[in-house]
Amino acid sequence: MKLTSVPNILVISLFIYSQFVHGLEDCRSGMFPPKGPTFKGNVSWYTVNLDLPPSERWTQVIKDKNTELFTMVQTIKDIAKGFFHGKLIDLVDEELPLIVDTLPHPFNEEIKGIAAVSGIPLGEITLFNIFYEVFTVCTSLVAEDLNGNIYHARNLDFGLFMGWDRQNKTWTLTEKLKPLVVNVNFERNNKTVFKSTNFAGYVGMLTGVRPGELTLTMNERFNFDGGYIGILEWIFGKRDGMWMGFLTRKVLENATSYEDAKAQLSLTKLLAPAYFILGGNRTGQGCVITRTRINTLDIWELDLELGRWYVLETNYDHWEAPMILDDRRTPAMKCMNQTTQAKISLSSIYDVLSTKPVLNKLTTYTTLMEVSTGTLESYIRDCPNPCTPW
Ligand SMILES: *[C@@H]1O[C@H](CO)[C@@H](O)[C@H](O)[C@H]1NC(C)=O
Ligand SMILES: *[C@@H]1O[C@H](CO)[C@@H](O)[C@H](O)[C@H]1NC(C)=O
Ligand SMILES: *[C@@H]1O[C@H](CO)[C@@H](O)[C@H](O)[C@H]1NC(C)=O
Ligand SMILES: *[C@@H]1O[C@H](CO)[C@@H](O)[C@H](O)[C@H]1NC(C)=O
Ligand SMILES: *[C@@H]1O[C@H](CO)[C@@H](O)[C@H](O)[C@H]1NC(C)=O
Ligand SMILES: *[C@@H]1O[C@H](CO)[C@@H](O)[C@H](O)[C@H]1NC(C)=O
Repeated sequence: MKLTSVPNILVISLFIYSQFVHGLEDCRSGMFPPKGPTFKGNVSWYTVNLDLPPSERWTQVIKDKNTELFTMVQTIKDIAKGFFHGKLIDLVDEELPLIVDTLPHPFNEEIKGIAAVSGIPLGEITLFNIFYEVFTVCTSLVAEDLNGNIYHARNLDFGLFMGWDRQNKTWTLTEKLKPLVVNVNFERNNKTVFKSTNFAGYVGMLTGVRPGELTLTMNERFNFDGGYIGILEWIFGKRDGMWMGFLTRKVLENATSYEDAKAQLSLTKLLAPAYFILGGNRTGQGCVITRTRINTLDIWELDLELGRWYVLETNYDHWEAPMILDDRRTPAMKCMNQTTQAKISLSSIYDVLSTKPVLNKLTTYTTLMEVSTGTLESYIRDCPNPCTPW
């Protein structure tokens, strides 16, 4: 019996559809402070001292998370073995260690340091760093309240449909990733430069705040404009774009203002398309930057006069309809609209991000940020049944 026969497709479609119907729900309320079955735990804090040589910066994080990192890398390898009769893994072990030296400073040295402390082969740590660039789907939003406070929040959904564990009805990769989530305070001269929520072992950034100045998240923009050709080109020697997570890190570490960040995120050539969601510290400063590898297609900004007091991005261009089987945008916007600008706060945004299918089986963590206070809070999430698989 072929899996692609018409009756099978019908059954599979009905199954997926039923999962969605069961998983949808009214906007949640009263979820904050986080509690109950959708809250799996707090995220612990680490300090990374940027005054140290790059190879020594992550030592404490890696020492604490070594077992979990090892398990995760093993799982990724097992998945990668399925591709090209295991040739992909040979490539990882033989070629990626050489490629580390072509990565820009300080990322090359940081990755080498992580490999040395963890005892995990350099090529595999490098693969792990590439993996995040490719397998995240997310919901991010920036909103302004009536007093001009800017909030920025996100759900990070990781794993992109890999390794469904039938017994536990969860995604294996997503579950293995949860113990690796850490909050990091990046310091220079003993002072915070920026804060982020990170995966131990990954040196790029997906979520972060420069207190008093800006907030930034990145969402995947997959299957557009040649997708990951740029990453393959880079592996095979054509290296004229920047890794997306490295650019976000560079902006969080060194940008001097919202405008500077916006310029860097719009103008730097990338290895793959992406969405950058940026918040500033003044009224009207919040935008979604839609990127191709080369260009910026669109910058969608807050505009209070037009009644646009929030911008919200999942993984589809905001001017197009989302894919019908992955519409997290409509439910999230419905709940934002119901909340209203007068009631927006970290707590009410947490409610929005706790509503299925914005919260789903792939959701790893929820982060809440407020630029003026420099707040960054992250919570590990669970989505017990009934819940949509993504
Ligand atoms: C998470 O942190 C909060 C505040 O520090 C604390 O009240 C709560 O008990 C913690 N929850 C868990 C599950 O650790
Ligand atoms: C399901 O979860 C339990 C407890 O977390 C774990 O021991 C078990 O290995 C999981 N099942 C599979 C098939 O991974
Ligand atoms: C940072 O603080 C520690 C202890 O509080 C101190 O020993 C060190 O000299 C300080 N470093 C800098 C660069 O100020
Ligand atoms: C930020 O700027 C400092 C000083 O120029 C530089 O050493 C550092 O590598 C930069 N950080 C990143 C991530 O590019
Ligand atoms: C906003 O950021 C700019 C650029 O970093 C800074 O000069 C300004 O003081 C900040 N404004 C507030 C209100 O913090
Ligand atoms: C939410 O409100 C905006 C602005 O009024 C509107 O364009 C959008 O269609 C609304 N979305 C939903 C899902 O209610």
